[in-house]
Formats: sequence, C-alpha cells, structure tokens
Amino acid sequence: MISKNLEEAINRQLNRELYSMYLYLSMSDYFESKSMKGFASWMRVQAREELYHTMKFFDYVHERGGKVKMYDVEAPPSKWPSPLKVFEEGLKHERLVTRLIKDLMDVANKEKDHAAVTFLQWYVSEQVEEESTFGEILDKLKLMGKGSDALPMLDREITTRHWKEPDPTNTTGL
Ligand SMILES: [Fe+2]
Ligand SMILES: [Fe+2]
Repeated sequence: MISKNLEEAINRQLNRELYSMYLYLSMSDYFESKSMKGFASWMRVQAREELYHTMKFFDYVHERGGKVKMYDVEAPPSKWPSPLKVFEEGLKHERLVTRLIKDLMDVANKEKDHAAVTFLQWYVSEQVEEESTFGEILDKLKLMGKGSDALPMLDREITTRHWKEPDPTNTTGL
C-alpha cells in the first residue's frame, strides 16, 4: 500500500506529465502552422512520450493499491516568437520537471518507501535523456542564427525521430 502523502504527490506529478503532453502538442501545432513538418512531428513524438510517462504513473498508483485523482490540466501557451524560443521553453520546462521528480523522490525517501524509490529512478534517468534531447536541438538552432536557410534542413533531419514504446523491463529509463 502506498501512503496517502506519496499517492497525492504522484497524482500531482501525473498531472504535470499530462501538462507536458499538452505543451508539446501545442508546440507541434505551432510548427504545423509554420509548415515545419519535421519539427511538428518531433514534438508529436515528444507529446507521445509524455503520455507514456503519465500512464506509467497511472498504472503505478493502481499497482500500489492507490487511487488516481484527476486535476485540471492547465492550458499551455500557443504562440512563440521563433523555433529557437520554442526549444528554449521546452528545455526550461524539462528542467522544471527534473526538479519536480527530485522533490517526488525526496517524498519517497522520507517515507522510506524503497519500492517507490526504485520506481522513480526510471524517471530520474529519463529526465537526463529529456534535457539532453532538447539541449541538442537548441544548440543546433543557436548555431544557425536568425533567418538561416539551414532551418529547413534541420526540419528535414529531425523527421527521423519516431515513437517507440519503451521496453517495460528496462528500469533505467535509458
Ligand atoms: Fe515526462
Ligand atoms: Fe519530458
């Protein structure tokens, strides 16, 4: 059985993962409106990952005999001044999520819930990956500078990212 305190904290994080999905869908929509199909598809894959993170929490709460609580999902922004800004905001958001996962881990540690600590370790590793994925593209965008014709090239390059269901037996998140 999971403690009420940890259940509440996980349910709050489940909501943040759902918000992440909503945010990246909004970013995908932004790129669609700019006819940048590669970036739009990349963000769509990212949104799909966030849904996976959400569902992993959803299943875990039940596995531990808890109850999921649904909170309102905040509306994400829908406009950005440039693709660079989108990825800056994306990275900023991932850094925030890393802090939230760390806080959640602190709750599990405080409660001495070792099973939850092991479970949350997957998210800790996943966040390392998430920050580096956003960081890589942001670096490329920064190198290009404003009004560069390299942007359509990058748009084509990133279409290679596809959604792949992570291996459920892999507990490291990588
Ligand atoms: Fe996530
Ligand atoms: Fe994420």
